[in-house]
Amino acid sequence: MEIRKVAVVGCGLMGSGIAQVSAQSGFHTVVLEASPQLLDAGLTRIDQFLAAGVAKGKVRPEDKSATLSRLTGSSDPASVRDCDLAIEAVTEDLRVKREVFGTLESHLKPEAILASNTSSLSITEMAAATRRPGRFVGLHFFNPVPLMKLVEVVHTLRTEPGVVEAVTALAKSLGKTPIHTSDRTGFIVNRLLVPYLLDAIRAVEDGVGSIVDVDQGMKLGCGHPMGPLTLNDLVGIDTTYFIANIMFEEFREKRFAPPPLMKRMVLAGFLGRKSGRGFYDYSVEPSRPNDFLVAR
Ligand code: 3HC
Repeated sequence: MEIRKVAVVGCGLMGSGIAQVSAQSGFHTVVLEASPQLLDAGLTRIDQFLAAGVAKGKVRPEDKSATLSRLTGSSDPASVRDCDLAIEAVTEDLRVKREVFGTLESHLKPEAILASNTSSLSITEMAAATRRPGRFVGLHFFNPVPLMKLVEVVHTLRTEPGVVEAVTALAKSLGKTPIHTSDRTGFIVNRLLVPYLLDAIRAVEDGVGSIVDVDQGMKLGCGHPMGPLTLNDLVGIDTTYFIANIMFEEFREKRFAPPPLMKRMVLAGFLGRKSGRGFYDYSVEPSRPNDFLVAR
């Protein structure tokens, strides 16, 4: 089955990135958001990313206009009716996601594929709640979506082989490298990444090193593009906390247990870049490490 038109549901950080990449790769893309305000915020994020790309000489101005012309924002679920694939990127709440899939199914063509960008919830559980479990997959993108090259393609026991082939081809058309994984909490990347991100917080909490030294250690000692505490801030402390709790619940292994400092940061609203403060303070330029986090 060839995918020609894509719907992206949810235009937050991940949804807007997925919609941008889809439209940039030539697909007519419908972006669905619950309210005009959220839609506007998401489409503005896309516009700004493309504008930054033009300023850096990475995106041609005519490609920016062409990308935007292929994007249709909507708050009306009926606008997905002629899409071949709908990628859900709403909040990580199974109840909300199930509701979204219920609404989508009443408008989508019977042969259309449903996909979730979840990073930790069960694809099988979501698929089972739909009328098309054979045409349901996970498509897990990485943040920032336009720059990260990977997509995890997640199949369940029910996924039809043709569906895996179709979304694998789509991921390649988006300029991404697909890898395949079965439906186990965290898939491949978060199974390895989340314990690392949590361990970096534990290292700071235990006084092994300062925030900057832990980050520098992994950047300069291991060649990572950014240190683990900077990455925690990029992903969102609340997001990683949420994923870690789901993984801990599933595997009952200490390595997935979120450290107490992380919980305190979430409760205090120190969520990383998106809230202006996390392990670093982004209200100043250049950002400054929040070394007081451990002392308090
Ligand atoms: N448009 C087009 N290109 C752009 C751009 C834009 N708006 N902004 C930047 N770029 C290009 C740059 O020109 C540069 O290209 P080059 O390599 O050809 O020179 C490249 O993108 C890198 O950009 P910068 O030089 O501005 O930035 P950095 O070198 O600091 O890289 C980064 C930024 C790509 C985010 C890098 O730090 C990185 O890879 N960090 C790790 C991110 C990561 O691990 N993400 C995964 C998180 S986990 C996740 O998402 C899963 C979830 O479930 C939790």
